[in-house]
Amino acid sequence: MKKHIIHLIICAALIPLAAARAAETVLLTQLDLSHLHFEGWAKPKTDQSFNGKPLSIGGQKFEHGIGTRALSTLWLEMDGRSERFQASVGVDDAAGYAAAAVVFSIFGDGKKLWESGVMTNGQPARTVDVRLKGVRSLLLMVDHAGENNKFNHADWAEPRFVVSGAKPRTVNAPREEAVILTPKPPREPRLNGPKVYGCRPGNPFLYRIPATGERPMQFAAEALPASLHLDPTNGIITGTAPGRGTHTVTLRVKNQYGIATRTLKIISGDTLALTPPMGWNHWYAHYNRVTDAMMRDAADVMVKTGMADVGYAYVNIDDCWMNAPEDAKRSPDPLRVGPFRDAAGNILPNKHFPDMRAMTDYIHAQGLKAGIYTSPGPLTCGGFCGAYQHEEQDARLFAEWGFDFLKYDWCSYGHIAQGGDPKAKVIPLWNKAGPNLEAYKYPYRLMGGILEKLPRDMVFNLCQYGLGDVWKWGAEVGGHCWRTAGDLGAELNRIFAVALKNAEYREWSKPGSWNDPDYIQIGYIGDARNNGEPKPCPLTPTEQYSFMSLWCLSAAPLFFSGDLSRLDEFTLNVLCNPEVIEVDQDSLGECARVVPLTPETFLMVKKLEDGSQAVGLCNRGEVAASVVAKWSDVGVAGKQIVRDLWRQKDLGKYDGQFKATVPRHGVVLLRLRSAISTK
Ligand code: GLA
Repeated sequence: MKKHIIHLIICAALIPLAAARAAETVLLTQLDLSHLHFEGWAKPKTDQSFNGKPLSIGGQKFEHGIGTRALSTLWLEMDGRSERFQASVGVDDAAGYAAAAVVFSIFGDGKKLWESGVMTNGQPARTVDVRLKGVRSLLLMVDHAGENNKFNHADWAEPRFVVSGAKPRTVNAPREEAVILTPKPPREPRLNGPKVYGCRPGNPFLYRIPATGERPMQFAAEALPASLHLDPTNGIITGTAPGRGTHTVTLRVKNQYGIATRTLKIISGDTLALTPPMGWNHWYAHYNRVTDAMMRDAADVMVKTGMADVGYAYVNIDDCWMNAPEDAKRSPDPLRVGPFRDAAGNILPNKHFPDMRAMTDYIHAQGLKAGIYTSPGPLTCGGFCGAYQHEEQDARLFAEWGFDFLKYDWCSYGHIAQGGDPKAKVIPLWNKAGPNLEAYKYPYRLMGGILEKLPRDMVFNLCQYGLGDVWKWGAEVGGHCWRTAGDLGAELNRIFAVALKNAEYREWSKPGSWNDPDYIQIGYIGDARNNGEPKPCPLTPTEQYSFMSLWCLSAAPLFFSGDLSRLDEFTLNVLCNPEVIEVDQDSLGECARVVPLTPETFLMVKKLEDGSQAVGLCNRGEVAASVVAKWSDVGVAGKQIVRDLWRQKDLGKYDGQFKATVPRHGVVLLRLRSAISTK
């Protein structure tokens, strides 16, 4: 027995020694660096500077390391038995810009462990030696410091861990549980959707009343114009748009558990999209794989899952429904290759779309609307037939086919506008004086004018990535919404930056005229860099809520672009919270104003039609932050009833301010109503 005890004591005494002896050095460059996030397209390099030169900081050369650029983050998971992280850091000498300035920071389990302070070009490397014992989640970050955020090339030179347990593992982001916040819709009826709806007098009319509650439900509409008819079983209103003016209709829906009433103003006039259009677009899920069947299925899913009951209405086909030329470089499947047009010049859908009219009939029968896509240039972005020199003929055909929405994508038009077609009567993009704004407007004005005269309401979506400050003139050329930047798909980690940029154009956001920061890409989406097959999106659950919150605060068009055939409960909960969507669909049409608080945190404040305020407490930083919404910043006074919109729960009455801890990349979305107002 005694012998055993002695043996145990000896063993116990040996363990730390053995552990210490077992400590090994793991080079960061030996780990999987595919999780390293950074700004821009070029890839960070291993053992080279960002622009491919030997690693060099303040004249000192290093053999190993990572050459990246701000803003760059790398998350690692550890077992708590990593001892130290060591490296030399600084701005790379090849950054080639005198004003380059960055800050390196290291966070362990949400707390800052080390910071370099501002490091500038030419400064000698700073040595890092951080104790990690017990740390399970590590973040290595390089941020911009100072005004310039273009050439901030930064090196983690000779970066290594001293570990006595398992090797650290790089990960996309700290793991988070996907918590469902949106309460299940109650069985009692609830009317959702916008309170105003625009149409053009005399055109075909279609509106599905969005309502949740246990079906069967019975719909009614008081004071519905005589030219319209409501199907009481499914809430679909059809007919001919009434004469010019505002027609105030009282909608009513009931089931065995209750009744709900709401006013809808049908405004018949010149303006469509009085609230941001909502729906689904195939692009980020199916790219050049889209088929007629997918579009029909999408309509079915939107109805079956309840998306249509909270306002999603458009089922929009994007690029690749037409033919590509035989000699297409990015040759698609043979069923998408063929003649562009028939003998009369009518554009031909490819073989995956045997009958466009039958497809839109199918979508319309569910009370939903259909959207289509083309380019003002000879080819679309995907290399398929565009509308160039057939603009009117194509638009008329789209209307005959029954489409209700047109996305018009600049793409190959750049070549024409540059003077690429000497026979064309277009305004050259450049003249001696420089870029010509009229040339940016020209193709959109042409199509806008055509659409306005069609005997069909077609929402006109300008897609030209913000060229010529499109937000300033999109409405003038007949557009209802316009992309404010390039494709978001490839840079999903930039949702905060994109929302903030988009908010700079808030002055142009109003009913019938919307800034569009691109589609909601959550659930299963395909990698935009290679038209990939749908996979779970890389965003954390918190980031997905933030995406939706930021878009709603921005009054952005809400188009989900993930795979509808793989919708899960969590994704649906992010997409389908009627109180969150109400912020987006508010009749005032304001885009929230931004109140900056710290470099990482800000408020977004959106005035709503009933006098209340939607407020986003936003944290774009890498760790949780405390954010205070002061009444003076929100623009309210006195006691406010604060409601958490995601949880659909009043949090109480507050005076002066409201404070919350906002998670990494999170938005706490609130609605503030004056406690004394009767509204
Ligand atoms: C561009 C647009 C995308 C999509 C593709 C289709 O990249 O910005 O939204 O329409 O073209 O090719």
